[in-house]
Amino acid sequence: MRIDILTLFPAMFEGPLSESIIKRAQNAGTVEIHTHDIRAFSTDKHHRVDDYQFGGGAGMVMAIQPIADAIEHLKAQRHYDHIIYVTPDGQTLNQQMANSLSLSGNIIILCGHYKGIDQRIRDHYITDEISIGDYVLTGGELAACVIVDAVVRLIPGAISDEESALTDTFQDGLLAAPIYTRPAEYNGWAVPDILLSGHEANIEKWREEQAIERTRTLRPDLYAKLFPSKDKQEK
Ligand code: ADE
Repeated sequence: MRIDILTLFPAMFEGPLSESIIKRAQNAGTVEIHTHDIRAFSTDKHHRVDDYQFGGGAGMVMAIQPIADAIEHLKAQRHYDHIIYVTPDGQTLNQQMANSLSLSGNIIILCGHYKGIDQRIRDHYITDEISIGDYVLTGGELAACVIVDAVVRLIPGAISDEESALTDTFQDGLLAAPIYTRPAEYNGWAVPDILLSGHEANIEKWREEQAIERTRTLRPDLYAKLFPSKDKQEK
């Protein structure tokens, strides 16, 4: 998989993309991640990338030319399965979207700034608009890091124990069961007996019950989607 990120602030990606699983996946050749400075594509003599809004209104708008030229430059070299714009008015990212993006060949992620980008870029180039939640960030960079992290860890080979991505919270629509490690008792706080029993089937059953119960109490919205009839009975 190859990910090209278009941004006004390439340095914002240096830390997040050079640690942990994302670093390992790049070193192993599982994923290639390239950042491109949109400003470098500006044909304006002062390298301007933004302009005033037609019709008036507060805030600058990222202009078409530098973004269009950056996208065309990339598209001339290879096919892209997704050209994503990260924006608070996009579809909210969830595990299914991350799963589906992890099956892509090449993707572009465009980060906006200021008030946003000229609508014509969205109309003519963008295939997916993704938000990471109902709040506004200074720009799309942190949201792009979140998407890259959620997607790259799912690419086969990125996580050494592939099992562990499959048992993540949300992979079956449920929150994960609580987990423990040694010591079996700390400060008088004991690990549930069942986990020390060695009885695999009972442990599996306990984990499933815990996952369902945690989802019911902590995320009633998810629970209602998974068990619509039970949810009505309880109300
Ligand atoms: N840009 C600014 N805020 C954002 C958000 N919540 N999600 C994605 N991109 C953004």
